[in-house]
Amino acid sequence: MNDKDQLKRDLHKALLNSKVIAFPIAVRQAWHSSGTYDKHSNTGGSNGATMRFAPEKDDPANNGLGIVRDMLHEVKKVHPNISEADLYTYAGALAVEFAGGPHVPYLFGRTDDSTNARCPMHGRLPDASQGKDHLRDVFHRMGMSDRDIVALSGAHTLGRCHFVRSGYDGPWTHNPLKFDNEYFRNLVSLTWVPREWDGEMQYTDKETKTLMMLPTDVALIRDGTFRKYVELYAKDQEAFFRDFADAYSRLLALGVPHCCPHAQAQKAGEMKRKSAKFRESAMHGVVEIKKLAEGADVREGDPGSGRTALHKAAYWGHAHTIQTLVDLGVPLNAQDSDGDTALHDAARFGHLEVVKQLLNARGVDIGLRNRQGLDALGLAKEYGKRDVADALEQFKRNGGGSRL
Ligand code: HEM
Repeated sequence: MNDKDQLKRDLHKALLNSKVIAFPIAVRQAWHSSGTYDKHSNTGGSNGATMRFAPEKDDPANNGLGIVRDMLHEVKKVHPNISEADLYTYAGALAVEFAGGPHVPYLFGRTDDSTNARCPMHGRLPDASQGKDHLRDVFHRMGMSDRDIVALSGAHTLGRCHFVRSGYDGPWTHNPLKFDNEYFRNLVSLTWVPREWDGEMQYTDKETKTLMMLPTDVALIRDGTFRKYVELYAKDQEAFFRDFADAYSRLLALGVPHCCPHAQAQKAGEMKRKSAKFRESAMHGVVEIKKLAEGADVREGDPGSGRTALHKAAYWGHAHTIQTLVDLGVPLNAQDSDGDTALHDAARFGHLEVVKQLLNARGVDIGLRNRQGLDALGLAKEYGKRDVADALEQFKRNGGGSRL
């Protein structure tokens, strides 16, 4: 048996034994380790295992979670090389699977901090007494979408509220140890009324008064966008499992540095999307193109054709963006799969102003030939763009050095 299989067995034994079934609290520990992430400051998240330290461990939202961290202590003793940060999150990913839920893709690579310097402030985790705006504030701050909020809330199909930990009381489902879509089915099929008691405001099912929902749970059926997903997951458990595994896996990777391939893959995917958007915007001559360069690889060309943002702007004659694109570092002389440069594209369509801008940029190579064997001047002549041909000839006569 390899180390990973052994680790999985040891975690199973730590969470399910003659004394305890701790799948729900392990899922919660992993989520509370990760859900402090703030995408704006890139702080918080599971890396560092900062929940071992005050002030994070004393955040009222984390009441009771010390118990599961102590349970995992035994596993750490026999697997000293795995970080506590990986242990807290991996246990949560596995607990979903152990309880009958989907496999949650997981990658190791977190490290443990030795001080509390990177502990997030209290108040980053959601407050159950609030509504839809609060849910969006908290989860969007982590980089999660509305769909993710609903899918992730489906974890409440497991476990229950404990009065001593949160002030709330009761389970969400009839089988709190099984990971399925009952939480969503209950949300849409039962009638939820305020519970009559002296404790925190929470809901109970009108019919049996045995189940509960938090105000944040009920917010999911009162908001149109959220409700759409609740209804989907109530009908389609497979869709819930797929979306939950994806969102929970991303949640556990939040704030984990580049050593974590999952986060890296996410980042690369995000950069690809931004780069494609950047090129598309250049094609449309978007005036604020500089802003769209943030987070994009401006040097990249379209897959297949290799056409850069500069090719696209030049092709459509967006002279006002050329200097900005050159300054941003879009390669001036890149050739696409037909061998055309941006200068070829501008010359072909007679975009004189674009041609001038390109000739003024330092390092332009007007001698490059495309697959037809033509340089920009040859193309301008072929297409009868006399003024462009004149500009190129003048540039050549001046030795390619003097600006137009
Ligand atoms: C949407 C905002 C959320 C709020 C306001 C919230 C709030 C709470 C509260 C008050 C409890 C009761 C704790 C106790 O008394 O023991 C709880 C339990 C739990 N939460 Fe959440 N939660 C939220 C989202 C999530 C997410 C995203 C996950 C995981 C992906 C999750 C997983 C759990 C689990 C599994 C339990 C049961 C723990 C146990 O039985 O010990 N929750 N949650």
